Amino acid sequence: MNQRMLADLAVAAIQAKIGMTPEAGVVLGSGLGAFADELRDAVTIDYHDIPHWPASTAIGHAGKLVAGYIGDAPIVVLSGRAHLYEGYTPQQAAFSTRVMSLLGAHSMVITNAAGGINLSYSQGTLVAIADHINLQGVNPLTGPNDDAWGPRFPDMTEAYSTAYRAIARNAAAVLGFQLPEGVYAALAGPNYETPAEIRYLRAIGADLVGMSTVPEVIVANHMGMRVLAISCVTNMAAGVLDQKIDHEEVLETGRQVRGRFTELLKVILPQLKG
Ligand code: HPA
Repeated sequence: MNQRMLADLAVAAIQAKIGMTPEAGVVLGSGLGAFADELRDAVTIDYHDIPHWPASTAIGHAGKLVAGYIGDAPIVVLSGRAHLYEGYTPQQAAFSTRVMSLLGAHSMVITNAAGGINLSYSQGTLVAIADHINLQGVNPLTGPNDDAWGPRFPDMTEAYSTAYRAIARNAAAVLGFQLPEGVYAALAGPNYETPAEIRYLRAIGADLVGMSTVPEVIVANHMGMRVLAISCVTNMAAGVLDQKIDHEEVLETGRQVRGRFTELLKVILPQLKG
């Protein structure tokens, strides 16, 4: 079966259960899953009940799709994503993004946990991603192109919507905090970087480092969706501080910013009009 047939089966299964057309899809990163509890009139679908949907194996990722409303905005929240380091192909890592678009969503809000390379950040800083550097070595658009989905060579000059970043910055200001912008470097993982790799990433212009997001953002752009992506700096990147990085710390920081993060998304989502 080709990608389109797989995606159509997933779309049909979700549509039969949620009975609404989402305006936006929201992907929740490590430790940031609590936002799914904020939806009104929520319908929850376990990933196992969606055909061809990759299961979430990463700790800190729930593995469920929740459809519902923030204010009047119909949205679908994905609590748990598929990463390359789990052994998934880049096409599988971005499968959920294809499905969100086919369900009718014109926007993607993608969140993640990231290491802070820019020394002006600290643990818990929320950062709007302004651009990315794909160092994952793979791309979800390789293979035959489905011209009905998007062009063979999609433009990426505004992969992260300028208008959406302004909405996010203003929303943060209303809530009383600053939302800096940064460039996200994506690696395949799963090991955290070496200090030498972090120095290299800083030299090439990266402010943040992580192991996700880029496959989804590439596919969202391919499908013509507008993207907002927000990183939570769960730890300063390797070698910045004189301490080791562990996944428990990453999850704990996610829990600490939960309230601020949830409030931010609640202000932003009703303003994303495609
Ligand atoms: N590196 C890569 N991915 C991450 C990190 C990091 O330091 N923190 C959270 N995700």
